[in-house]
Amino acid sequence: MITVEGLTKRYARTVAVDNISFQVQKGQIVGFLGPNGAGKTTTMRILTCFLPPSEGKATVAGFDVLEQPMEVKRRIGYLPETPPVYPEMEVSEYLSFVGKLKGLSGPNLARRVDEVSERCAVADVRHKLIGKLSKGYRQRVGLAQAIIHNPDVLILDEPTAGLDPKQINETRDLIKGLAGDHTIILSTHILPEVEQTCEQVIIISKGRLVATDSVHNLQNRARGAETVLVEVAPRDSAPFEQTVVQRKLEQVAGVSRVLLRDASPARAVFEVESLKDKFIRGDLARAVVESGWNLNELHTTAMSLEEIFLQLTGSEPAAAAAETPGEAQ
Ligand SMILES: Nc1ncnc2c1ncn2[C@@H]1O[C@H](COP(=O)(O)OP(=O)(O)O)[C@@H](O)[C@H]1O
Ligand SMILES: [Mg+2]
Repeated sequence: MITVEGLTKRYARTVAVDNISFQVQKGQIVGFLGPNGAGKTTTMRILTCFLPPSEGKATVAGFDVLEQPMEVKRRIGYLPETPPVYPEMEVSEYLSFVGKLKGLSGPNLARRVDEVSERCAVADVRHKLIGKLSKGYRQRVGLAQAIIHNPDVLILDEPTAGLDPKQINETRDLIKGLAGDHTIILSTHILPEVEQTCEQVIIISKGRLVATDSVHNLQNRARGAETVLVEVAPRDSAPFEQTVVQRKLEQVAGVSRVLLRDASPARAVFEVESLKDKFIRGDLARAVVESGWNLNELHTTAMSLEEIFLQLTGSEPAAAAAETPGEAQ
């Protein structure tokens, strides 16, 4: 549905987007992740025909953003970083206004205004001035205008920035509800956002593509195929020393690293990393039990996207990861 090939954008001396390529399949919900200044907004502005690329090519539903911008715009709904709303307009008046700009008219226009108001949960404020709405409502009006012409593709630039946690959840649910009917790219500098909302992730840093994969694969990638948390405890009179247990776990086939996470006379907790494509859980369990210890717990822990991001970019995981949503501006 979307293809980007060798896309580059230079502003004077800054290379905002540096030769990136990716594809987005129909119906997918894709997270466009990167720290501030990574080039997310620039890429989205190119895809939505607001900005020409310096080099490279981008197509939406087979139409080139440079050569057929009208066809592209017809198929795209765009929510910019700052929602393009007019504070002095009432919600329904504004939605009709945008609908007309997108070529809707008559009963069809009225019906779509009703539908998107329902869908984006702004029907109860339809006669309020946009300027009087809370940020959460304003953001949902922004989403409503983006989908008014029922576009195939939605491009949402940091749709949850500046919202409080409750509003973030509501917006996230709304976006998930729109997936399926629409192909969605949403940008964010907040890692958990991607884990919770998206199937695919495209990571960029300093204008360069760092990774593109499913959220699931990314979590399983990088260091080992999986990380297993193992809690071992002494039983009866079997000798129990954490170094002995650790050595035993290290000897299991397919294990790449064993880290002691917690230890007391009553138990020891280890984080065991496997080599790629090795399934070590059965052998780990056997090694513990056959040594005469108790196996209190054994479960896999996926790497957080934050750790993956650190590994892939060698940078801070978007200083922003620590930012509490309520404080974001
Ligand atoms: N209009 C502009 N003129 C010059 N530099 C710009 C302009 N817009 C963005 N940049 C620069 O391009 C880089 C990428 O910016 P942007 O696409 O907004 O990143 P993001 O949305 O990921 O935070 C940044 O270094 C930014 O300072
Ligand atoms: Mg941005």
